[in-house]
This record gives sequence, C-alpha cells and structure tokens, in this order.
Amino acid sequence: MADRRMYLDHAATTPTDPRVVAAMLPYLTTAWGNPSSIYAEAREARKGLDAARRTVAEALGAKPNEIVFTSGGTEADNLALRGVAMAARQRRDRVAAGDRESAAGDGHHIITTAVEHHAVLHECEALAKEGFRITYLPVDNEGFVDLDALRAALDDRTILVSIMYANNEVGVIEPIAEITRIVKAHNPHIAIHTDAVQAAGALDLSVDALGIDMLSIAAHKISGPKGVGALYVRGRTPFTAQIVGGSQERNRRAGTENVAGAVGLATALRLATDEREARNAHVGALRDRLLDELPRRIPDTIITGPIDRARRLPNSASFAFQHVEGEAVLLQLDLDGIAASSGSACTTASLEPSHVLTAMHVPESYLRGSLRLTLGASNTMSDVEALLEKLPPAVARIRALQPMAGRSA
Ligand SMILES: Cc1ncc(COP(=O)(O)O)c(C=O)c1O
Repeated sequence: MADRRMYLDHAATTPTDPRVVAAMLPYLTTAWGNPSSIYAEAREARKGLDAARRTVAEALGAKPNEIVFTSGGTEADNLALRGVAMAARQRRDRVAAGDRESAAGDGHHIITTAVEHHAVLHECEALAKEGFRITYLPVDNEGFVDLDALRAALDDRTILVSIMYANNEVGVIEPIAEITRIVKAHNPHIAIHTDAVQAAGALDLSVDALGIDMLSIAAHKISGPKGVGALYVRGRTPFTAQIVGGSQERNRRAGTENVAGAVGLATALRLATDEREARNAHVGALRDRLLDELPRRIPDTIITGPIDRARRLPNSASFAFQHVEGEAVLLQLDLDGIAASSGSACTTASLEPSHVLTAMHVPESYLRGSLRLTLGASNTMSDVEALLEKLPPAVARIRALQPMAGRSA
C-alpha cells in the first residue's frame, strides 16, 4: 500500500473542515438542550439553530423561514418532490369534494431529466406508481438538458419541474436560470426544484437569480458533516410535510432538530461561500491539467460531460476508457494509494452501466470504463502529476489482462 493516500473523490464526500467541527462541538457538549423547550439549556440550542438557519438563508439570498433542515440531500430531494406532489393531490381531492375555494386543476405531471441523482429518479418512480405522470427529459452528448424537449413537455397539468444544478457524475452545469424562465413563462404556478447538492460551494446559489422555488443541499459535499442537509422552499409554494409529528421546521419536517448538524451545515456553507473564488481557482487548475493530459496520455479515452470548462464544475474531471472495466481501474488506483470513483451509482456487485452515460449516448464500448476524479482543497499539482504517471500504465495493464474488445453487454 502506498504510504500517502490521495483522495480524488470529493463528489462522494469531503473531509470535514476542522473549523466546522469546532463550530459544532458546543452543541454536542454544553448546549445540548432541546431547542423546543423553554429553559436556559434549550435557549442556547435554539440560538444556535436560529443562527444556522439565518446563515443558510443568507447564502441562498432567502428568508430564514424558507429553510427546512433535513437529514441530507436525499431527504431534501424526496421532500421537494413529494411535498409538492402531495399538496397537488390534496388540492385535487378538495376540488373533487366540491370545495370551490381550492385552486382548480388536477395537476399530476412532473418533469425531470434522465440524468438526475437516484434521490430524484427513485422518488419519481414511486410517484409514478401513485398515479403521477413523469416526463424524463433527454440530454445531449455533453449532458445538457434538451430545452426544446422541456418546452414541448410543459402542459396544463404540469405541477413541478425538477432539474439538477450540476451533475454528480460528469460535472455538467445545467442552465437553471434559463430553465426557470421557460417554465415560468408557460405557467408561473409550476414549482421548480433544483438539486444543488453538487453545485453548493462551487456555484452561486442565489435563489432569486436562479428563479427557483426549491433547492436541495447537503453538508457533507462541502466539508460539513454527513446526515444533514437543507431544502429551501420559497414562501407560498404549495407543500405538504412528509415526516409528521411535532411542529418543528414550521410544520414542514417533524422531529427534534439536529442542532449540531445544522450548525455544521451553516458553517460549511458560509466558509464555502466566502472562499469560493480561491477554492474554485485551486481545483480548476488541477482539473484542467487532468482534462488536458489524460486523453493525451491514454489512447482511446474520451472526456465525459462538457468540453467547455466554464460549463462544468471546477472540481470535476470525468473520462471513459474504451474496452476497460472501470472497476478494475479503481481497484488498481486504490492499490496505488488513490481513492477515485467510476462516478456511477453502480456498486462493484452490479456492473450496470451508468444511467447518466447511457442518457448521454456514450458509445457502448466506453460505457463500462468510466472514471470520475473530483478534486478538493487538499489536492496539489504534484498529486495530479503522480496520477498522470500512474494511470496510463495501469489502464494499459488492465487492457492487456482483460481484453474487452467485442465483448457484448
Ligand atoms: C446530485 C446529488 N443529489 C443528491 C445526493 C444525495 O445526498 P446525500 O448523500 O446527502 O443523501 C447526492 C449525493 O451523492 C448527489 O450527488
């Protein structure tokens, strides 16, 4: 095993920033009260929670009461989709019961894309089984959503559009502001959600500039703790809670709040916002070196995702090697002390090709050879140079050992 590990999988999770841990610590040690109680111990916790909510709201240009803390990105995505879908269903039921006060309509149509995270796609599948109609928009071969298909899909039953801000596998940044203009021109009442779990830290999250109604983030992608995230919900968005019980989070998400987690998320988001330019410049230079060099040094390699670097996440370099099993590359890199990812949600046990690469029409012979390198603050140019030395012979060895040419799916 190599003596120094190199971590190149920051899209999976990030090392926790010690400043975030320091900010959280008091809420795990001294200020441990239940923020809903009324005595002094509780007031300390409440103060921390309120301050965290203000900080998150500020980073999004939102109001504190529009922030719902969740258990992470997955819950925020699930909650956005189901929260709006169930509100629409209740409205329909009230109309059916003769309540003329309810806005008319039996909206049951949701638009999303073929390249979303499974936290969105699987929720859509669940809603489809409950009678909702889902349109999955196609993307082009760089991963950009087809805006003509969006225009064509919008109809008078559409209640929700959910399109990710940046993709976790190939780093493509979707044109969210343009998307919201198209959707709102069709019908300003359609709710728009964006999964900003990968965009947070790297891109501007101002909800008004984006024009969105809901936005998901997760702390552990921005040097915060795992198991905490937030959903921004614009005031007046029709929305029904999915976890019920107490009246926490203004009745939008019951359960005693994860105060330390919320403080961790807020601190991580504030640091990421304050340091964004420097962080992006640092990882961007490393990413560019990878994008320039890997396809040059390894034959039959393509860059997956946008070629225009301004339109991909600054920390994301993704590739596909022809006739190579990506998992074999990952195992070899691990032996060399390098942690990386195939980028797809598939596990080593199931070598199903990625739904993202499939939707982008990556050629069949490249589909199983994906590699995602996602950079962070601790990476250096000498890390990148070391990878550029180690990877080409590793791929050549695997190609020699596992000839996949002509192998069918
Ligand atoms: C784009 C995107 N959405 C949602 C999630 C889920 O977030 P969490 O791991 O906090 O549940 C992830 C995590 O990989 C992601 O990359």
